[in-house]
This record gives sequence, structure tokens and C-alpha cells, in this order.
Amino acid sequence: MDRHPAKPTPWNGVATLTGAAGQRVLLDEECPKSSISCPLCSFRVHDAAPNVTGMANVTAHPTVRRMNFGFGVQAPANKYFADGSMVFSHMVAVLSAIFPPGEELFVRSVRRYKDQLIDPDLKQRVAAFIGQEKTHGLQHRELNEQLAAMGYPTAWFEYLLECTERMEKFTDKQYPDPDQLPRLRRFFLGFTVAAEHFTAVWAENILKSPEIQTMMYAPEIRNLLNWHALEELEHKSVAFDVYRAVGVPESTRLRWMTFASHFGIPILVLFTWISIATTDHEGRRQPVRIIKETVQMLRNPMWKGFYKSMKPFKNPSFHPDQIDNTELLTTWQEALFGERGELAGHLR
Ligand SMILES: [Fe+2]
Ligand SMILES: [Fe+2]
Repeated sequence: MDRHPAKPTPWNGVATLTGAAGQRVLLDEECPKSSISCPLCSFRVHDAAPNVTGMANVTAHPTVRRMNFGFGVQAPANKYFADGSMVFSHMVAVLSAIFPPGEELFVRSVRRYKDQLIDPDLKQRVAAFIGQEKTHGLQHRELNEQLAAMGYPTAWFEYLLECTERMEKFTDKQYPDPDQLPRLRRFFLGFTVAAEHFTAVWAENILKSPEIQTMMYAPEIRNLLNWHALEELEHKSVAFDVYRAVGVPESTRLRWMTFASHFGIPILVLFTWISIATTDHEGRRQPVRIIKETVQMLRNPMWKGFYKSMKPFKNPSFHPDQIDNTELLTTWQEALFGERGELAGHLR
């Protein structure tokens, strides 16, 4: 494994990366001997879960990238932009609708504890996590407007899922100390940690599958998914480290993961069917097609093997960085944002 990822490009300006246990890892420009083992690059190897490598991941400090996609300029020619599949396209639209309110909930859940954090490195990672999630929400909102214009009920899903925001904002104002209402606050943080693992597995499936890349017919939607997936992997351990740092009992995250494992994909399928039933005349007339495409979608690389990949999270000694995504990350960082990166021109 290359322990010295590529030099920071002008768009990121990040000087260091951080290992699983918070160790500082030098970049090439700091370490003159990047091809040999640097004494500062000692990684703690966590206990390996059954399907992980046992090698600690080198998680980049999340890099906040201000993006500019071409949504609103030209809608995809094909309404069913995901593999020509009505079901898969509605599911991607549902996911895009869920992201803005969901990610704002993640941000609130983590930010609530920022003043309790002692580790300056973790504080920086939290700030970057918030920046990334906020940017994801903004970009997905732009895509959601385009999808709404194409007939997808993205505005409805966004509206419904914003239901906790009002309650959380009220409690945060009335009880600003996160140690007040601790069960409620820990409930949200536990949910965030489980959901971040869910999105990290989803992100890994997207980035490692050439098939998914060819399935996304609309280039800007594919670009958005790739960028979002990359950043989900970059910050996959931030909420988890906050969770550990503030001492929330393990049982909370484990209960949430049990819920996510059992109901995560069924809920997405249900929302997808609701999306079709409420807005898609063509879909309402073709129930057999819906069933067939649902089965196909659950077998495609975005979801295939998903439950197995979720399992390590249930190990009491689990840490997200046990799953080594270093190579995948460096490959995609270069492919998207390197000098000739596909999305270098999308940076603001
Ligand atoms: Fe995100
Ligand atoms: Fe995330």
C-alpha cells in the first residue's frame, strides 16, 4: 500500500493525512523518502473483522470542495437516466431527495458535541466533515430541482424528511448543553454513525464498480454520485470518532445498525415504489416491469453484497478505518481531481 498519497493539488491544499488512530502521515512534499517507510507512518492495526483487510486505512483529512455541476442547464434526455430502468432511476432520485435533510441531521448530531472534543485533529476533521456534508446537501438540492422538473417527487421526500429539523432546532435552542437530553442527542449521534457506515458501503460499491459507472447515462448525475461517494469515504470515520470521544455506549450504534441492516434497503424500495405510484403514469401501468426491475436493481453492484459489507460494524471492536479504502480513494482522487481530473473543471 502506498502510504504517501499524491501531493495535494491546488484545489485541496491539505497538508496532512490522518491514520486510524489519529497518527499524522506525511505527504510526499514533507517526506523526502516517500518510497520507503517513514518513521512517522506507523499505523495501528485494529482487530480485523471477517471481511476486512486487517490493515488500517489511511483516511484523508476530508477535503471540502466547492463544486459546480451543470444542473439546470440541460436535463438528461432520458427520464430513466439510471440504466434505462424506471425503478433504479426512481431509487437514485429518492436517494438524492433524502440526502439534503439526512446530511443536515448528521451535521447537527456531530456539531452538537464539537465543544466537548479535546483532540485538535478530530476538531479539524469535524469541521471538514461539516463542510463536505453541507456541500453535498447543496449540490443534491440543485439536482433535486432538476429531477422535480423531470417529474420525480423529490420535493415531497425532502419536505417529509425535514420533520426532525424543527424539533432538533427547538431543543438545541432551549437546551444548548448536549449533556441535557442526553438520550435524545445520543440517539441521533448513534443514528448518524450507523448511517455513515451505510453510506460508506454504498460509496465503496459505486466507486469500485465499473458496471455502475456505465449504468449512469446522465454524465452530471454520475459525476455527482462519484464526487459524493469519494467524500463519503474520506470522512467515513469522523462521526464514529466523535461518538467514541464523547463516550456514547456501544449499544446505541449497534441497535441502529440492526435497524439499518433490516430496514435500510426495504425502506428505500418502499419509497421508490411510492415515488413511481404517485408520479409515474407509465409505471402504474406496468406492475410486472416494476417487480422485474426491482429484482434487477437489488442484484446490481450498488446493492449486491450490501448486507455482508454492513456486518463488520456489529463487531464491538469495529472502527471504520479497518476497512482499507486507501487505494480506491487515491485512485479516485486522482481520476476526479488530479491535474487532468474529470471534475477539476467543476471546482469553484
Ligand atoms: Fe454526504
Ligand atoms: Fe457522510
